[in-house]
Amino acid sequence: MTRQYARKKTPRILITNAKGGSGKTTLATNLASYYAKSHKVSVMDFDSQQSSTCWLSLRPKELNSVHVQPGYRPNQLNQTRSWQLRAPTESDLIIMDTPAAMPEFALEEVISYSDVILVPVLPSMIDIKAVEQFIYQLLQTRAYRQNPIPVGVIANRVRQNTKIFGTLNQFLNTLELPVVSVIRDTQQFVKAYERGIGITDLIRMSPSDRRSIHLITSWIDNHLSSQIATDDQQSDIPSASCPAERTNESRREVKELSKDRDDPIEDTLPDAGKSPLSNNALVMT
Ligand SMILES: Nc1ncnc2c1ncn2[C@@H]1O[C@H](COP(=O)(O)OP(=O)(O)OP(=O)(O)O)[C@@H](O)[C@H]1O
Ligand SMILES: [Mg+2]
Repeated sequence: MTRQYARKKTPRILITNAKGGSGKTTLATNLASYYAKSHKVSVMDFDSQQSSTCWLSLRPKELNSVHVQPGYRPNQLNQTRSWQLRAPTESDLIIMDTPAAMPEFALEEVISYSDVILVPVLPSMIDIKAVEQFIYQLLQTRAYRQNPIPVGVIANRVRQNTKIFGTLNQFLNTLELPVVSVIRDTQQFVKAYERGIGITDLIRMSPSDRRSIHLITSWIDNHLSSQIATDDQQSDIPSASCPAERTNESRREVKELSKDRDDPIEDTLPDAGKSPLSNNALVMT
């Protein structure tokens, strides 16, 4: 029997890093495409570059639709910020794609609206230094301190067996945050963006990419399923472990993942019907 969760409010995933080009939009669009197979997904695009909005305009009609809501416009037509940040009606899940170097007040605002935060980081000295500062800033925000929500880091564009990945790993090991997943550097992400799809829409997907995405969605589901459950359903739901508890477990999985070979994969046409990953915890009424 499918477990149905009553929704308290539309859960929001914030994807952020002050450093440009770390993979925020790539992560946002791939998660949107993955969850759109089973849920009504909205992407809030806070970036004036409109990369997520542009991705959506390329999306094939036969795939499940994703709603994009611009969050970057300055207040106009008497729109207030809270109106811009409102949850689109009929959304099961909101993914917030943010620009590099968000002003502090804007970062405070999006954090205060979020339920989980993902920070993609690239294996480069510049990115490692930048994300170190950014994570410190994020954890110091008033919004986070008032309501500490799960924060996970994702190592993106990783080339295994490189010295710089070793350096990134060392840095990630010093963080008190879970390393949720490692994503390899592959043109599949570039091509998927150009076609308005996510890599989980490919009929054949590399097993290592599948595991990378699976680790991320499991982490998200683990946290959001408990947040959206009503009180009388709590006992029925697997408890979400806190970031500190999951840190070692995640690191073990991520270490295994980083050993994977880069499997060659066929570039196939999107298949609207197939979901290569399981439908997991985000089942809501
Ligand atoms: N895992 C990956 N493998 C290969 N290319 C990638 C990967 N992740 C991201 N890219 C590419 O890196 C570039 C930057 O990624 P993306 O636009 O997602 O970063 P961003 O953090 O949103 O950037 P910005 O801060 O400018 O908004 C893009 O060209 C994207 O296709
Ligand atoms: Mg972007």
